[in-house]
Amino acid sequence: MSSNTEVPEVPADQNAKDSTQSCPPADGTNTPLPGGGSSTAAGSEERALSVLEKNIHSAQTPGEKFFPSFAVTEGLEEKANERIAQYPDDQKRSAVLPLLHEVQHRFGYISPESIDWVAGKLDIEPIKVVEVVTFYPGFRQKAPGKLHIRVCRTLSCAMGGSYELMDKLCQIAQIDRSASDTHKDPIAISPCGNFSVEFAECLASCGTAPVCLVNDDFHEGVTCDKAEALLNSYQNA
Ligand code: FES
Repeated sequence: MSSNTEVPEVPADQNAKDSTQSCPPADGTNTPLPGGGSSTAAGSEERALSVLEKNIHSAQTPGEKFFPSFAVTEGLEEKANERIAQYPDDQKRSAVLPLLHEVQHRFGYISPESIDWVAGKLDIEPIKVVEVVTFYPGFRQKAPGKLHIRVCRTLSCAMGGSYELMDKLCQIAQIDRSASDTHKDPIAISPCGNFSVEFAECLASCGTAPVCLVNDDFHEGVTCDKAEALLNSYQNA
């Protein structure tokens, strides 16, 4: 069972950062997920990021090693120009969502540097991009884990046990959510960076509650007793 959502899966990249830390097996049966590669440095040019830093939560996370650092590549420029060209010249700010999706797809999350770049491409103030990023929960402000799990917590799923499912997933993946359950910082990550979790609102499959997304894969009827099998099914991801 799978479906696409507004937040595309971020593929493991050959430029992903080096990984030396791994989660121990949660219960003696789980195999840690792999990572590896080398980072691509972002530009060294100094920029004023004070407004962005105040508004964007982009703390470093153990999940960063699975994603390339933000860099303006030829491919990114080409794709961005393609998107912008779909709008009238005097309305190119309308491409802000496609550009942010492109950034998140490539780099895993929306960093202050990428906001600055999107703003420059669209000739708008960075704060305008910040407003979009902070409005839509689908845009991540820090790197998630290699497997990012979004558990629906709206009524049907809550009644079906999604809160218990979240607790079970955190227990298995050794995730501490105590400091992460806020609108500004909803993502909690395992120490090894292999797993991250966050609650999501209705994922439009209320009849098969509780449901969750693992990256872009949709899973229905995920009761607590299926949590471990769910994570194990991604051992080779
Ligand atoms: S309440 Fe969970 S999918 Fe609708």
